[in-house]
Amino acid sequence: MKIRPEPRTDWLADWEACANDPYVMSKLRRRDRIRELMNFINSYIPELKGEDKDINNMTDAEVDALEITKTQKLVIDIGVGFCEFLEISRAYGMEIRGIDAPAPDKNGMGVNYHTASKLMAERQEIPVSYDGFDNWIKDGFPIGSDTVGIYHSCGSLDFVLREFCEGEPGQDFANDSKLLSFVFDKKSEDFLKKMFSEIERTLIKDGIFAIHMNPVKNQKEFADYFMNLVKDNFPNIDLTQTDLFTIFKFVKRGE
Ligand SMILES: C[S@@+](CC[C@H](N)C(=O)[O-])C[C@H]1O[C@@H](n2cnc3c(N)ncnc32)[C@H](O)[C@@H]1O
Repeated sequence: MKIRPEPRTDWLADWEACANDPYVMSKLRRRDRIRELMNFINSYIPELKGEDKDINNMTDAEVDALEITKTQKLVIDIGVGFCEFLEISRAYGMEIRGIDAPAPDKNGMGVNYHTASKLMAERQEIPVSYDGFDNWIKDGFPIGSDTVGIYHSCGSLDFVLREFCEGEPGQDFANDSKLLSFVFDKKSEDFLKKMFSEIERTLIKDGIFAIHMNPVKNQKEFADYFMNLVKDNFPNIDLTQTDLFTIFKFVKRGE
């Protein structure tokens, strides 16, 4: 997937000022991320690639009537990082939108990571709102009902849930999420319910919410709780695939 031309003359200087940080460099794994994300798409969200057409077994009449349609339209990536997932989605013909943290904070990935991530979104022309997904959940998503085909979150749900975790995060939260434990109480339950009610409202029928989490310390307990919370409160949302631990694929069923 091609890196686009620098969007302005001072872009490279801005990039070098933050991307030379060893932590940022360790996260800049573009080719590996593209491979990993495409493998995830193949295994868990093949819908993103559009319908498979068995063209060799079609009659002439079927070929004449063939329409290439997308069942899923809008893809929203939660916690875009360097935007590879949305680049892949765009290459598959999807409309794309990202949501990321408003600003780096002490539990985030640092100022340089945040700046580099924004610069990459600018260069690759990826629309990202820096509102914080936790704020979307609290305020209601700024998204119309029945409009989103796929929500995707890789390595970001643990950030979004961190105010409901106890323990001291390390320097590198993405790797140190396992130092934190999710707290099961009324506040965290209400937050997760609000998240799923907004997901349900905004997804189209057969729309998908695909999650790949960094594990917290009590991840197994969290995963059981998370799956049961959806099963008990959202009869219209099915869990269709999981590794029973960090990967969850939810699908909104229609009437
Ligand atoms: C470990 S990185 C994962 C990046 C990317 N999804 C990937 O798979 O390479 C976590 C991402 O979540 C973002 N993030 C942190 N807190 C967030 C929040 N409250 N809302 C949305 N995104 C957040 C970070 O800025 C970062 O882009």
